[in-house]
Amino acid sequence: MPRKILVTSALPYANGAIHLGHLVEYIQTDIWVRFQKMQPKDKVADCWYVCADDTHGTPIMLRAEQDGVTPEALIERAHGEHARDFAGFHVAFDNFHTTHSPETQEYCNLIHARLKENGLIEKRGIEQYYDPVKQLFLPDRFIKGECPKCGAKDQYGDNCESCGAAYTPNELKNPYSAISGARPELRHSDHYFFKLSGDRCQRFLRRWTRLPGRLQPEAANKMQEWLGAEGENKLTDWDISRDAPYFGFEIPDAPGKYFYVWVDAPIGYMGSFKNLCGKRGIDFDEYFRSDTQTEMYHFIGKDILYFHALFWPAMLEHAGLRTPSGIFAHGFLTVDGVKMSKSRGTFITAESYLKTGLDPEWLRYYYAAKLNSSMEDIDLNLEDFVARVNADLVGKYVNIASRCAGFIGKKFGGRLAASEAEWQKPLREASARIAEAYEQREFGRALREIMALADTANVFVNDRKPWELAKRAGQEAELHAACSQAIEAFRLLTLYLKPVLPKVAEAVESFLGIAPLSWDDTAAALPAGHAIDAYSHLMTRIDPRLIATLIEANKESLSPAAEEPAAKNGEKHEEKQEERTAAAPVRAEAALIDIGEFMKVELKVARIVDAGLVEGAEKLLRLSLDIGEEKPRQVFAGIKSAYDPARLIGRLTVMVANLAPRKMRFGVSEGMILAASDATGATPGIFLLAPDAGALPGMRVK
Ligand code: 2FM
Ligand code: ZN
Repeated sequence: MPRKILVTSALPYANGAIHLGHLVEYIQTDIWVRFQKMQPKDKVADCWYVCADDTHGTPIMLRAEQDGVTPEALIERAHGEHARDFAGFHVAFDNFHTTHSPETQEYCNLIHARLKENGLIEKRGIEQYYDPVKQLFLPDRFIKGECPKCGAKDQYGDNCESCGAAYTPNELKNPYSAISGARPELRHSDHYFFKLSGDRCQRFLRRWTRLPGRLQPEAANKMQEWLGAEGENKLTDWDISRDAPYFGFEIPDAPGKYFYVWVDAPIGYMGSFKNLCGKRGIDFDEYFRSDTQTEMYHFIGKDILYFHALFWPAMLEHAGLRTPSGIFAHGFLTVDGVKMSKSRGTFITAESYLKTGLDPEWLRYYYAAKLNSSMEDIDLNLEDFVARVNADLVGKYVNIASRCAGFIGKKFGGRLAASEAEWQKPLREASARIAEAYEQREFGRALREIMALADTANVFVNDRKPWELAKRAGQEAELHAACSQAIEAFRLLTLYLKPVLPKVAEAVESFLGIAPLSWDDTAAALPAGHAIDAYSHLMTRIDPRLIATLIEANKESLSPAAEEPAAKNGEKHEEKQEERTAAAPVRAEAALIDIGEFMKVELKVARIVDAGLVEGAEKLLRLSLDIGEEKPRQVFAGIKSAYDPARLIGRLTVMVANLAPRKMRFGVSEGMILAASDATGATPGIFLLAPDAGALPGMRVK
């Protein structure tokens, strides 16, 4: 029976731009889908690729509020931008929908109703932090406070970035809302839970995660860890509801309660497919009934394995629907060996890549060359990127056509001689091996094989030297044969590269005057007399200066704290995932000032010309500071515990010169001096700032 396949990529959140990290997954999936679509119909009857924007949840709701727009307007804008970026990288979904859709809501309600009928939904009261100013329950990632273990300030509600400790928000010391700054209150609320820890789910998941092909070996191991040993019960029930205000779908018969965004996100795969079925007359039930013969694969990042390999199959199974045939997790992207970074300029958006004038197929090729079926991280090494694309695509592949096609046009009226030859045998025979590599998502292996075949073709061209044959009279037939055979080899290479380089392949199809290449087109060579078009450039070399421009365009001057927190061991499997990823922009904006704001603070080098004790003050010293003005300024500074006034006289420090004067019990303070101290108290002391030698009183510090 020919295969019928439904493929998805993870749904991007509707409050962030598509970046090169996202593109690893979309390009990987797109290549796999394009490969399937090239198969003859008796092998693969259909392969549908669907995606959607992930539009619900607290971060999106808050983001819209911050931008002064409705969530609907925000997600619509994101949808347009995302669709543009995907198209820019030739990621060809059959449908790019939204989770904020009637189809998704319909299946949310259906699945929920069936789980409820099956006794798998339970109502339970919980205590949760509530922001009394913002008037909403706070997701863990929106609660901050002091780490209960090491005391570090400003840590999130789930774990400490300073000492790595994991805890619950209730354990944080001095908690505050990251949205309003208010002290949160613990409040009671009824929530709905999916009984994942029950016997039925446990038994099902133990069996399902071990079925062949469902999970990669590393993922299956991870699952065993999460499930625990036989007899052990490590799973906890999953809280699937959230209180109003929430941007999402209200739970039927539960006013004011909404489905948690991670419930409707994977159901969004179904919603998008249902929407496509409506447009294309596809039988939806054939794909989703429990005894389906069709296949369904989810390409995801390894950080959301928990949702896709536990919650999602358990939900589908107990709602009487099909479960995934396979979950394909990939690793994270690093750039030049480290996590993408905004301050380094390596947090590169899809839009900026294209705007800089870089060819999307360069990146598709490079990612493909690095991708395999494992969950290992992949590195975009920028120097290697330039070198590899230039060497392989331009130096090896395109080079074959560019050295031979011109002669066919100029000397033979654009018509080929017989193009099949014995030396091309390895090129034809590789078809099954390359297909197997694509099927197994071993794209790196496929490309190594293809480039080795390109080498074979180049050896042939170098050997025949058409440019020399062309100069010799009486060698026309040899020239015609050599160029025709080389063009046929080029056609075969194009066919193999087509899943990775769809636009180049399209250009080659038009240049060769042939129908769109499909996988079994290896069999018949281009016939003698076949007319081809004039050759025009297919791909240029990467100019390394473009990379420098790209990095510059993405550089943001950020404090290290504004960088997104690193994923802990790539595991964000708890409910924190949504908040962690999407909360970053909100947090960054709250903590950052622009240069203009900073420049409002007038910092100056000051010489301490006099210092003394202040009668009746426990902590203060009275300082006279020369900042190049007519007379010194008087400043009271709380540094008595750390400095003997006599030893301060004569030294330089830094002061804030435009602080409004403040009337104190002991006199007016006309500024402030700068000193460092350890907020955690681990290193006691106060440390006055001092400029390097050569600075003079009155110099501006900026
Ligand atoms: O992690 C994320 O970016 C989520 N928006 C992925 C959702 S995938 C699926 F479940 F919908
Ligand atoms: Zn800590």
